[in-house]
Amino acid sequence: MAGYQGVYMQRFQNYLDRSGEHMVIQKLIDTVLPPELTNLAAGKTDFSVLGVGSGGGEMDVYLLSILQSVLPSIPISVEVVEPSADLTQNFKALVSGSSSLQDISFSWNTVTCAEYEKQVRSKEAVKFDLIHMIQMLYYVDDPAATLKFFHGLLKEKGKLLIIHEAANSGWEILWKTFKKDLCTNTLSDYLSAGDIKVQLDALGLRYEELVVRNTLDITDCFTEGNKDGQMLLDFMTDREDFHSSFSIEVRTSMLELLKNECSTTTDGRVLFNCSLSALLVHA
Ligand SMILES: C[S@@+](CC[C@H](N)C(=O)[O-])C[C@H]1O[C@@H](n2cnc3c(N)ncnc32)[C@H](O)[C@@H]1O
Repeated sequence: MAGYQGVYMQRFQNYLDRSGEHMVIQKLIDTVLPPELTNLAAGKTDFSVLGVGSGGGEMDVYLLSILQSVLPSIPISVEVVEPSADLTQNFKALVSGSSSLQDISFSWNTVTCAEYEKQVRSKEAVKFDLIHMIQMLYYVDDPAATLKFFHGLLKEKGKLLIIHEAANSGWEILWKTFKKDLCTNTLSDYLSAGDIKVQLDALGLRYEELVVRNTLDITDCFTEGNKDGQMLLDFMTDREDFHSSFSIEVRTSMLELLKNECSTTTDGRVLFNCSLSALLVHA
């Protein structure tokens, strides 16, 4: 699994704060989910959710608050698959600190989705009304098999909500252009929402897509010695230290690409394209 612990967690949190990514995810959830839920909940006496790669659970809690407001009288149960013990602790703390979540039953699996799949295959599978994978499919070894397996856990009329970096975002341009240099650490390949759509098409699954534009101000990355810029570059390239990890030639080309291909410049600020895509896959 990706190393969501220690210093990496600080870099990740810094990225979330600076990019406003969770607000964009909330906007996607607000737009995509409520119209589906009324249909999905018709005639139901309970509603089950599976969160895959939920992290600290901020987005899960937001999504659950929407479920509770659209389906006020239906009991909700939630299963979580999240390999990071630290992030699972954060999620549990969010749950115990929120009075509105006390009526929801939670079941925690501190495992990767591959380990969860093994567990599920050895017993009778539980099925879900809603499964979500928010910013996590980068880390699975075989995305097609993972999509197929989790799609198979949907109840009739169930939905799989995937939120992921959009096709042609700055992330995709950076990571695919410098695949040889970047895909040597946590990731052995980079997956964008465009790649996920190719897999969904190959599996013959039906889905709808919504893209929301987002940008991250990376101007500081171009001032040598700037600590904030350094932290962003470490996060964006998944390295402990951007400067000592690559040759001067590679660093120079990466910075050029980041400025000229991955970003737009407005009023002297370099704005990295980190748009997100929501894919709502039907059972
Ligand atoms: C970018 S974070 C997203 C967290 C959360 N969904 C959010 O949007 O804030 C990626 C998450 O995927 C989890 N993860 C990494 N590898 C995984 C795997 N193989 N199976 C399930 N989750 C995984 C990480 O621990 C981390 O919590």
